[in-house]
Amino acid sequence: MAVKFIEDKKIFRLDAGSSVYVMQVRENGYLQHLYYGESVKDDDLEYVVSYYNWTPFHPKAYDSVNNKIFSTDIQPMEYSVNGTGDFRVSALSINSVCGSNATELKYKSHKIIDGKPKLEGLPATYLNEGDKAQTLEITMTDQFSGVEVKLYYTAFDSLNVITRHSVIQNNGNESVFINRAMSTCLDFYNCEDYDIIHLYGKWAKERQIERTPLLHGITNISSKRGSSSHYHNPFVALCNKTTIEDSGNVYGVNLIYSGNFAAEAEVQADESIRLIMGINPIDFSWKLEVGQSFTTPEAVMVFSANGIGEMSRTYHKLYNKNLCRGYWKDNKRPILINNWEATYFDFDDEKLEKIAKGASELGIEMLVMDDGWFTNRIGEFGGLGDWEVDTSKLKEGLSGLCKKINALGMKFGIWFEPEMVASNTKLYAEHPDWILHVGNRTRNLDRNQMVLDLSRNEVRDYLFQKISSILSNANISYIKWDFNRNLTEVGSAALPRDRQLETFHRYVLGLYELLERLHNAYPKLLLEGCSGGGGRFDPAMLYYSPQIWTSDNTDALDRCKIQYGSSLCYPASMTSAHVSASPCHQTHRASSFETRGNVAMAGSFGYELDLNLLCEEEKEIVKKQVKQYHEFYNCIHYGDYYRLVSPFENNYCAWNFVSESKDEAIIVFVVNRDGICSRYFIKPKGLDPNKKYKDEETGKVYYGDTLMRCGIKLNKQFNDLGSILIHLKSVD
Ligand code: GLA
Repeated sequence: MAVKFIEDKKIFRLDAGSSVYVMQVRENGYLQHLYYGESVKDDDLEYVVSYYNWTPFHPKAYDSVNNKIFSTDIQPMEYSVNGTGDFRVSALSINSVCGSNATELKYKSHKIIDGKPKLEGLPATYLNEGDKAQTLEITMTDQFSGVEVKLYYTAFDSLNVITRHSVIQNNGNESVFINRAMSTCLDFYNCEDYDIIHLYGKWAKERQIERTPLLHGITNISSKRGSSSHYHNPFVALCNKTTIEDSGNVYGVNLIYSGNFAAEAEVQADESIRLIMGINPIDFSWKLEVGQSFTTPEAVMVFSANGIGEMSRTYHKLYNKNLCRGYWKDNKRPILINNWEATYFDFDDEKLEKIAKGASELGIEMLVMDDGWFTNRIGEFGGLGDWEVDTSKLKEGLSGLCKKINALGMKFGIWFEPEMVASNTKLYAEHPDWILHVGNRTRNLDRNQMVLDLSRNEVRDYLFQKISSILSNANISYIKWDFNRNLTEVGSAALPRDRQLETFHRYVLGLYELLERLHNAYPKLLLEGCSGGGGRFDPAMLYYSPQIWTSDNTDALDRCKIQYGSSLCYPASMTSAHVSASPCHQTHRASSFETRGNVAMAGSFGYELDLNLLCEEEKEIVKKQVKQYHEFYNCIHYGDYYRLVSPFENNYCAWNFVSESKDEAIIVFVVNRDGICSRYFIKPKGLDPNKKYKDEETGKVYYGDTLMRCGIKLNKQFNDLGSILIHLKSVD
């Protein structure tokens, strides 16, 4: 049983894999957190929560327990509220009838549900046939406003995963405003000194790992850009000082959401810690009419007692099996060539056909026509929104070009940026109010474009119809769905004044609705998410697009860091990675073809250059890489990923994949700056110690334990940015 209720003590116990989560309804009706971490045998953990006789400046809650002071400002609370005595960051704040933000929640009832209910209008993890999980639904009430809050916890049987979200329902007599409704709240009461790990970045430098001690006060990792963003990712982890890749406790929290998010970690003087995560309360307010409800996005909590690596592998498994959906979840995706870095805007059908022909001869399976195929697109200016084919570039139209590409035995894909509009379009001329805007304030441009108001039905209908008409025009197998700016002047002409602060969230809900419609209408369409590279690289987008363009930066060295960082919670199958030209267009750094391939192989692999321009030797390498792609597909997409040497801390880096059966492993090693007479050893992880593995290149055979303990000596002189890929296969 994943969820247990111990009646006499009113204790809830959730077992998820080898982790356990315990909470209790106190005599005064508060829901108190007791423990989260590695499994323990006892259920009654009430004793860990201390009481106080004297608590200056911590308001006493209205009732005490057993004549001891119970202050919500000191006790670990399950879903903290604002304005009634708990001064720490709150998960919920409701502005009710009289205009005050004071909120108080007490237990009303609970239900244990087999399986996992869906979240209305929001992407979330789901169960496959045979997966076991139970969901606990706890109903709490705020008597004053009549608001009811249902807290949902799903504990997965075989993974250390607990998902959380809440549903806020107005059962009162008047409308209320939600100012804050976080998805999860975690109180740590055991006075351990934690570090926080998070992923920061910017355009072309996404998801850099940072680990710092948590300071007293509030650490805030968030986005208010309208998307999860290049700058911060909706992922944080708390871990002990001693936690490393393979040992120690770590708690990961990842929000399945693509809009404004916030993770706030507050450390008190008594060293207790509260971590909350959910929709960013800044620029957010939601009017809840009587009878209406509001659902928060889902937070995915992963606990590992065996280090950061195990936490990552748990996320990878969950996301590959229980978040990614549709045809391309289990079917091999085509190796693609994208013309962006080969031509930028300067292309026509002949040029594309030539690129495709050269690529098809080397085994590439799909051509993706990037930005620039539609009318009024002059470089980065104009065109977005009308989505009509520019026949001066594609002389035989889209279907003419597509047929030619198909005739080469290749699939055809196309770039779109549906959420945007340019001012030189019919769409803008006819519907200037379909843009996110605030009265007659200046509509700020970014990349010369504005953002459509996706909260509006008619806008989504228009986009669905436009995309469908392009898809019905030609045999299109793939869409790269781009999003090249952040949101400003976020207001909707369709909403009344007291609902304007709902626009950010309604935009995201609108986006999900549109993506869901496409998913249902075109089940075999492969969607690749993108936002100026990895500006919307989050688990919610993975629900709709099995792969996401990781970064506009295709430099092999920078990619080592970006992909290493992304791997903290995102699987390689989601991480699009392409071999591009050298020197790299973004950094002007040169690297060998092998290294670019070895690095890109750790993701959803493809090319982003004109392969016709390669010398014969390089073309042979492409053929080898294509062969490797097919051979390694299952190991990389569905295998276990191990980080070996971090590029953030060393002059070289390494990682390895191990297939589910442990019969195969792929190790990649990349040197940043080679030292004179350097000697490198790689110690792969996750192999079966009792199996023998053959190095496919050298023919040498070793036991798994030898490889993992003694390592492989790399008898090779590496130049700067040199690399090696080692393929191990088990032998009898
Ligand atoms: C974004 C994407 C690129 C490319 C361009 C086209 O920057 O990240 O890959 O598609 O847009 O304009």
